[in-house]
Amino acid sequence: MSPQNEETQPLDGSSACSEEIEAFRQKIKGIREQNRTGWEATRKLVSSAQLPETLSRLASHIRTSSYSLPFQEWLLQCCQPEKVATNRHELSHQLKTLTGYPTTKALRALCLFLGVHEATPVEPGSPEITPSFLEDLLRQSPNPYEVLRHVTVPSLLDIGAGDLSFEEELVIACEPWLRQSEKTLILHAMDRLQPGSQLGGRYHAQTDRLTNMKSFLPNRLQFKFWGGVNMANLSTLKEILPLYTMVTCHAPATPTFAYEPTRLSSATIRLALTKTKGLFREVPWGKEKALEVEQAGQVFNFPAWKFEILGPLALLNLIAHRGQLCVLSAIDSEVFWELLAQLLDNEQYRPQNVLFEPETIAEVFGTLYSELIHLPIGASVQLAQLANLRKQIPCLSTRNSMRPALRFRSIEIRRGAVLEGIPSSFTARQFPHMSEELTPWWLILIPE
Ligand SMILES: C[S@@+](CC[C@H](N)C(=O)[O-])C[C@H]1O[C@@H](n2cnc3c(N)ncnc32)[C@H](O)[C@@H]1O
Repeated sequence: MSPQNEETQPLDGSSACSEEIEAFRQKIKGIREQNRTGWEATRKLVSSAQLPETLSRLASHIRTSSYSLPFQEWLLQCCQPEKVATNRHELSHQLKTLTGYPTTKALRALCLFLGVHEATPVEPGSPEITPSFLEDLLRQSPNPYEVLRHVTVPSLLDIGAGDLSFEEELVIACEPWLRQSEKTLILHAMDRLQPGSQLGGRYHAQTDRLTNMKSFLPNRLQFKFWGGVNMANLSTLKEILPLYTMVTCHAPATPTFAYEPTRLSSATIRLALTKTKGLFREVPWGKEKALEVEQAGQVFNFPAWKFEILGPLALLNLIAHRGQLCVLSAIDSEVFWELLAQLLDNEQYRPQNVLFEPETIAEVFGTLYSELIHLPIGASVQLAQLANLRKQIPCLSTRNSMRPALRFRSIEIRRGAVLEGIPSSFTARQFPHMSEELTPWWLILIPE
């Protein structure tokens, strides 16, 4: 049946924008006949492999359109992936109301009308999703890595990747939809440990895993690992993308991110390191240099840079500039409260030169501390429900950045090391066996 023949139906649940719906319905009438070539081009957009991506692109076209917000919301309801899968009856009624066509043809008509069929191929590293789309998606799915399915060129950068077990778990989890959708996942991982160094132990990228990752899913995975690179020098890497769909950092290094240099003097940091870790000094180590740490009569050797402090602001700057969605997992208590202090608006959370120790943390964070500490394992909370988010996070450098200003629109806190059904890192999987460690935290952040 052509749209011209379709009789007018009531526009349920849409009184706020009924005039706009009617005007849209008039404009879309006959679109198929007016643009036969375009109509043919939409056929492949609704194949079962392409449909999830098409719905996501339709949603972003709607969000960037000039239609009123209520009408955009109404249109967005017609493109919800879950509705397409589970509530086809309601969906087909809505779509028929709007276009006069049954569901699949209606979606094709929307693609044609909104220009989704002629969108140019997406370049890796270009922004594909809006923060509000991400917010909706995270509300619907507890697995943040789901977002990778919703973009044309999914990409992820993992900072301080360690032994690459997270990369392996992620690729195994993504394999079915990568094969089905014929998309290619760009997976970049980096770590400061120098490949071949005798220091760093279990955190070295495992050779077998590196080889396997490179040959796994040859057309569906572009994997790259940089070893011996400080995250502070990331922009010197030739193939680094300006922006990734996701940036992750699992078990952010301690003490690297456990002290914020804009809040604590170098003397205070040094004192804290000696108090908590022991006496330390640089020593020769074969052809390398090592940091020798003496603690309770025992001597440990680490990479020479182990106690170089970058601080949470450096990490937040990096992830917010490079990621559309950022996931920090298995964050230990030392790093968590220092990170949190930088995300909150009130200066009371950033007392100058006060070390965050168990007693001071309770005092500085007050009711926020009590609320977070009682968060059960597996539970989550939006930080904005507990305190005001920081309006402007200090920018350490705007070089090579697609985002000059720094602000997080949404920050979700989760409690737990490993969350059911979600790819995890080596360290995250060790937490349950470490009796002295407190339950770690997750931060899932959407930069503005
Ligand atoms: C606690 S380990 C976590 C490793 C892995 N993400 C995991 O969860 O198992 C921290 C990692 O961060 C790396 N790292 C520390 N400082 C770094 C820096 N400035 N740049 C890049 N990587 C760094 C360390 O070499 C180490 O592999």
